[in-house]
Amino acid sequence: MASDKPFSRQRQTDIFLGSLRGNDRTIPISFDKLRNTAKKKLSKEAFAYIAGSAGREMTKKSNRAGFNKWKITPNMLNDVSEPNTGVTLFGQRYPVPFLLAPIGVLDMAHPDADLAVAKASAAENVPFIFSSQASVDMETCSAVMGDSPRWFQLYWSTSDDLVESFVRRAESCGCEAIVLTVDTTMLGWRPRDLDLDYLPFLRGRGIAQYTSDPVFQELMKTSLGDADEPPKLTWSSIKALVKMAKNYPGGFWTNLLSEDPRRSVKTFIECYSRPSLTWDDLSFLRSLTDLPILLKGILNPKDARKAIERNMNGIIVSNHGGRQVDGAVSAVEVLPDIVKEVNGEVPVLMDSGIRSGSNMFKAIALGADAVLLGRPYTYALSIAGEQGVQELIQNYRADFELTMALSGCRSVDEVDTNQLQSA
Ligand SMILES: Cc1cc2nc3c(=O)[nH]c(=O)nc-3n(C[C@H](O)[C@H](O)[C@H](O)COP(=O)(O)O)c2cc1C
Repeated sequence: MASDKPFSRQRQTDIFLGSLRGNDRTIPISFDKLRNTAKKKLSKEAFAYIAGSAGREMTKKSNRAGFNKWKITPNMLNDVSEPNTGVTLFGQRYPVPFLLAPIGVLDMAHPDADLAVAKASAAENVPFIFSSQASVDMETCSAVMGDSPRWFQLYWSTSDDLVESFVRRAESCGCEAIVLTVDTTMLGWRPRDLDLDYLPFLRGRGIAQYTSDPVFQELMKTSLGDADEPPKLTWSSIKALVKMAKNYPGGFWTNLLSEDPRRSVKTFIECYSRPSLTWDDLSFLRSLTDLPILLKGILNPKDARKAIERNMNGIIVSNHGGRQVDGAVSAVEVLPDIVKEVNGEVPVLMDSGIRSGSNMFKAIALGADAVLLGRPYTYALSIAGEQGVQELIQNYRADFELTMALSGCRSVDEVDTNQLQSA
């Protein structure tokens, strides 16, 4: 009869009886323990890159504090024996109201990187948003995902041909939507990385979508000409060259003797992002694809309106986990105004600060159609690879389902502002 139980009760049973059955879980449940355990596993550069944010990290703090401005007011005796956590986005039904956010350079968290996340998300049928800055290219990830859902996140580079190539590849890989991240046309000022002098891309990490791309490979040939001076040989430049050779596709020894790894990094730096991007450029992207396009990084109602006017199909309210503008508004704080402006015309998703089922419940009650999980699954990946990510998805699913049912809601549709009051 176990299968008749709601998912959350089954998950609790699995956890409580796990050690008796010899089925030990691999990751801690609470977010703080998860982060602290991951910290012990990660190099100091990796932890700084994942945990760090812009400036004094005030935005990251407000992302979490923003959720405390709302309290849940549960309703009793509603027959919640069969809770349904499914949501429909762009005509597709998903089992839970969360997706896995695009996170770059996942090989800093675990050697299996995106591939482990692809497998875990596929096993749970939860959409994985491939990052433009992935450590494993989208074709390799898609190949292990069967028919399970995936989206593609795009950073708009200085080459429109490269943008087009990424979009075409995402279509061929079966991605169901394109997420254009608009808040990172330049990298934010991140003291933890700056203090360690460490930016993974400069070591050839997190550029797999580029090095696997035919347009990028052409750019590598043409963009640098003969002006490509060999580096001065110092201990740290040799270490950097060895890392680049390891991270570049192909054999390590061939790469070590070749200029390609270094050229790929230089070409990447030249074409990575386009600070000159404007609203008018969106028509180009729109003309490229019929897939739904969502803008990620929207933080005010006016921008949400502009996105709709330019035929964008969805909004992701996000401040990039506080990694871009220190002192920016928290995502949950601006969510209600954006939801009001959008008025149901397109789906509104949100991320930045989701750390529990209760956070997800509040975001949905405030009008989000779904949320994105970021750092939590990255920490789970660091601790236990694919298994860790799969458990994390199950834990967040169970936590959300219980919060929803215990608040008196049978389905996600019933979650609304009636279940909230301001603190
Ligand atoms: C280590 C790291 C790498 C990220 N890489 C990307 C990326 O490549 N593309 C992108 O759109 N967002 C990226 N993000 C932002 C996430 O998609 C998401 O907005 C953020 O993690 C939400 O904040 P939270 O994890 O604190 O909840 C990254 C975030 C982190 C922590």
